[in-house]
Amino acid sequence: MSRYDVVIVGTGHGGAQAAIALRQQGFEGSIQMIGRDPSPPYERPPLSKEYLAGEKPFERLLIRPVQFWADKQIGLTLGESVTRIDPEARELHLASGEQVGYVRLIWSGGGDARRLSCPGSHLDGLHAVRDRRDVDRLLEDLQAGIRNFVVVGGGYIGLEAASVLRKLGCSVTVVETQDRLLSRVAGEDLSNFFAEEHQRQGVALRLGAQVERLEGESRVEGVTLASGETIACDAVVAGIGIVPSVGPLIAAGAAGANGVDVSDTCHTSLEKVYAIGDCAAHANPYANGAVVRLESVQNAHDMANTVAKAICGDPQPYDAMPWFWSNQYDLRLQTAGLSIGHDATVLRGDPAERSFSVIYLRDGIVIAVDAVNRTKDYAQGGKLVKARAEVSPELLADTDVPLKEMR
Ligand code: APR
Repeated sequence: MSRYDVVIVGTGHGGAQAAIALRQQGFEGSIQMIGRDPSPPYERPPLSKEYLAGEKPFERLLIRPVQFWADKQIGLTLGESVTRIDPEARELHLASGEQVGYVRLIWSGGGDARRLSCPGSHLDGLHAVRDRRDVDRLLEDLQAGIRNFVVVGGGYIGLEAASVLRKLGCSVTVVETQDRLLSRVAGEDLSNFFAEEHQRQGVALRLGAQVERLEGESRVEGVTLASGETIACDAVVAGIGIVPSVGPLIAAGAAGANGVDVSDTCHTSLEKVYAIGDCAAHANPYANGAVVRLESVQNAHDMANTVAKAICGDPQPYDAMPWFWSNQYDLRLQTAGLSIGHDATVLRGDPAERSFSVIYLRDGIVIAVDAVNRTKDYAQGGKLVKARAEVSPELLADTDVPLKEMR
């Protein structure tokens, strides 16, 4: 059995950046990455955007050229899962039956796409959009001429997929259980704007709707809702969130409920075991004291840097400002900060002109900005969030005054 100074589980953004950052910090020990995905580390955000649209080949998604990992002496074990952790012996058990020892472990397991569990969810033609293989299967359907889609879930994934599928000439119905789109990540003004936009683009919406079952013999032919309506289709895309991938960590005794709990240096409750990215529940300084999991590239990247620093003897608390983005049609939605606990919102600009921002306040302090086609508001508003700036709603709404002049 080999033992490595650092074993990184997960080859997504967090895992890859942890390895990169360790070498950048001058770490000279052995590093081994282990990941279930058979492909070398690649960017996920384009999967539901340019990759699905056929506008970016896979090679352009690679986080680093394949040779980079060998050059930096970072081992890659791909297509392999960790099934068990022995925290006493500091050993990982792999699905292949092999064992790997660690001195330090960085768990960057991310999350698995939540699957529909209703009758019919075993049928062919039901797709997730989480990794390259998911999207390749969806692309195969498109190449085979499949054009009638139901998208289940009106979050980032569902709506990005809907916008690409419309661009490709498909018919699309979005089914969402909540009574508005993007309810997990955005306020009501923004939800309404995106609902109108998708309808203008020809997407049919079913809000507040429950999926009862998928119809079909071997392949999906329709989606029946609790209302009794059946929407005929040839394929279904489910973007209904993720389930944090932390099973072996929790089974090994790590504290956690929603994901795995980590300290401000991303340490879990297990000795020498860190966790980062989508699966790491932490007290974020921008979340008004709440413990959150952030599903974003920014969070994975910055937590990876935090862990690399901690391992290299320069621990610094994780305090990066969260940011997110989504592309749908010609709309670029960019978010800075977290709107958790906001008690007021300010609309800046005019949604009818397809360029506006929603600014979120708590006790008069700017805590988050959602900017639609308004990159300057996003960049400058992010600085207000970082500065915990107190600005009057009247001034924030004044588009003649740039946000950067409001500090
Ligand atoms: N039927 C219909 N809608 C559902 C169902 C269901 N059975 N279950 C959940 N939903 C809805 C939720 O109400 C929510 O609006 O699906 C949406 C899922 O949105 P997210 O939780 O934001 O997840 P998703 O869009 O799948 O994105 C998953 O990938 O790119 C990342 O940032 C993204 O981290 C997020 C992850």
